[in-house]
Amino acid sequence: MTDKNPGKSTNAQEAKKKREVAQAVSTYLESGTILLNKYQIERRIASGGFGQIYRVKFQKAENITLAAKVSRREVAHFRRMILEQMILTKLRGKKHVPMIIASGNYKEFMFIIMRMLGPDLARIRRKTEQKRFSVPTVLQFGIQAIEALKDVHDRGYLHRDVKPRNFCIGAENDRHRFYLIDYGMTRRFICEKSGVPRAPRRCAGFRGTARYVSVTVHDRKEQGPVDDFWSLLYVLIDLAEGSLPWRQQHEEATGNMKREIIIENLFM
Ligand SMILES: Nc1ncnc2c1ncn2[C@@H]1O[C@H](COP(=O)(O)OP(=O)(O)O)[C@@H](O)[C@H]1O
Ligand SMILES: [Mg+2]
Repeated sequence: MTDKNPGKSTNAQEAKKKREVAQAVSTYLESGTILLNKYQIERRIASGGFGQIYRVKFQKAENITLAAKVSRREVAHFRRMILEQMILTKLRGKKHVPMIIASGNYKEFMFIIMRMLGPDLARIRRKTEQKRFSVPTVLQFGIQAIEALKDVHDRGYLHRDVKPRNFCIGAENDRHRFYLIDYGMTRRFICEKSGVPRAPRRCAGFRGTARYVSVTVHDRKEQGPVDDFWSLLYVLIDLAEGSLPWRQQHEEATGNMKREIIIENLFM
């Protein structure tokens, strides 16, 4: 059989490959490792593009389960972790933000300890029979996601990586609440001192995930709060429909499809 698109690798294939690579990366911390004298690593439960997530037992209260996000102390990762730790601290107590408990260094790793959440939306969706959510569930999620983004924006930050894998439901009896996670790609859009929006850069690098970013990002322009909401709109459609029309496309073609498509037609 000949390949009609030689050399073409799709977003879905790339995502799968990334997941496999992440799985294959050796586990950073062995089970039983104790962090800060009281947090005991149990096992790895997830791997993202950049961090590994572990289930952690709080030794002083056995019934409390926590999660540790662990990353190597390489320059790029280190900056993301510092940023994430800062944002989680600033947003502590917000309804849709995982509560940060502690952070620190261990050997060549950096870690953040936070409340344990339930599975992310990509994982939940994979387990559904039709690979999509009902409209009431999507709406319930959408309302909470707007609240979550509003809290981030009100603090002067953009999330810049809104996608199903970056939302989790709560654990156990908190399963009806949705949490926005992964603050490693945030960017300040309001100047902290003056309170006015920062001047846009002439050219901004691509940030985010091709399937969900707004046209602004495809155009390499500066993002604003509205771009997080564009991503959310694509996420909502994806969750309700089971896929997006540009699922199989490269970044450039994805951008072109988003520019041309009539948004109402995506809801059919
Ligand atoms: N507090 C948490 N509780 C449970 N699972 C989590 C938690 N934080 C992250 N995860 C899981 O780990 C995955 C990767 O975490 P994330 O912070 O998005 O890392 P990355 O920056 O590598 O994408 C998430 O998609 C989610 O499935
Ligand atoms: Mg993530």
